[in-house]
Amino acid sequence: MNHSSPKKYHVKSFGCQMNVYDGERMAEMMAAQGLSAADSADDADLVILNTCHIREKAAEKVYSDIGRLKREDGSRPMIAVAGCVAQAEGGEIARRAPTVDIVVGPQAYHRLPELVEQAKGGKRALDTDMPAISKFDHLPARAKQARPGAFLTVQEGCDKFCTYCVVPYTRGAEISRPWGDIVREAHALVEGGTREITLLGQNVNAWTGDDEAGRGQGLDGLIRALAKIDGLERIRYTTSHPNDMSDGLIAAHGEVDKLMPFLHLPVQAGSDRVLKAMNRSHTVESYLKLIERVRAVRPDIAISGDFIVGFPGESDAEFEETLGLVRDVDYAMAYSFKYSPRPGTPAADMDGQISANVMDERLQRLQNLLNEQQARFNAATVGRQCAVLLERTGKLPGQLIGKSPWLQSVIVNDSAAAIGDLVHVEIASAGPNSLIANLIRKAA
Ligand code: 5AD
Ligand code: SF4
Repeated sequence: MNHSSPKKYHVKSFGCQMNVYDGERMAEMMAAQGLSAADSADDADLVILNTCHIREKAAEKVYSDIGRLKREDGSRPMIAVAGCVAQAEGGEIARRAPTVDIVVGPQAYHRLPELVEQAKGGKRALDTDMPAISKFDHLPARAKQARPGAFLTVQEGCDKFCTYCVVPYTRGAEISRPWGDIVREAHALVEGGTREITLLGQNVNAWTGDDEAGRGQGLDGLIRALAKIDGLERIRYTTSHPNDMSDGLIAAHGEVDKLMPFLHLPVQAGSDRVLKAMNRSHTVESYLKLIERVRAVRPDIAISGDFIVGFPGESDAEFEETLGLVRDVDYAMAYSFKYSPRPGTPAADMDGQISANVMDERLQRLQNLLNEQQARFNAATVGRQCAVLLERTGKLPGQLIGKSPWLQSVIVNDSAAAIGDLVHVEIASAGPNSLIANLIRKAA
């Protein structure tokens, strides 16, 4: 189909925070090309579906989303499929969905403007290369937008090859963005009004690079340098692998005030046999030891994690070990998923695939326990005072919503404050998913 030059774009992102970050960069790139943002896909003449491939029938969802983009009069916008489904199933998408104009992988989206040009002429445009040259060098500088909390991708890809995971295939090998680029982007965000930066990477704590003086640094060195930026008040990072929790990073949790007391450290399972089959290269004991060390330097740290239930061959007893580990750690929050075979990963071909019923039952039990722990963690903050960075308006007039240091959503009832303020509050009550607080003073 021939398209005229698109004027309004809409980006719909699924999946992890890194995909959200990529979606923001795609939007900024389209804005730099002179397009304006449409609030919904219906109002756009270029729709970018920024897809996720990590679990379940993500690809099927993409096909139904594509179908829904057809308008009543039979017309449709220019359609780009980006993200990890594009990377994993590019050719298949091109075959199955003839209405898709552009297929672009997560390492190639800096070429979107060219691909749009190509698609205008009615020619299919496909780019799922994983070039060694970084896309980051080809993206426009960060747009200056008032964004109290922002993501900043510092590392991409993964070399760990957990046997269930598609990431090494969709995002490629581990790469770290250079120190200077990250520091520059952080400054640009702060000048635009950002006060909290979350450093992102599939394996963010594997980040390495050389500082201005040419000294080799790890993520802790980068965090310490970013903490010196005036106006940047808070730093977070996600997602980490237990094997890359260095001594320096653990120490930073006790020493860097701006580093928030929150650690997302996926463990996936509580049985050493299952962890080995997953190729996790850590044990239950080594994981617990890490948690103990982080808590020793930062006793109030909120621990978060990811879990997979029903990995091939997981027995009832092994699942019970997962519940045991959860009780030992006592999580502030966590994500848990049913194992989903990903085409091309080793676990997809393993014997002992677990039935849907068993997985449902295990997931329910695990989530009940995790929800209990989360509710208890939230309830324990009632009566405490803390700083909250206000990020958006709430449902009721005068309400603003922000994040506590421990990444809880906090609703603040006070119209004297504004989005972007870091306020000091006292927590008045706690629900399972959010806290309600009263303002004490504006400057935290
Ligand atoms: N099935 C289920 N969950 C998965 N995850 C990754 N791959 C799979 C899969 N094949 C989960 C892991 C990971 C999180 C981002 O998604 O828990 O940490
Ligand atoms: Fe989904 Fe993984 Fe891709 Fe993120 S990196 S979008 S979680 S498949």
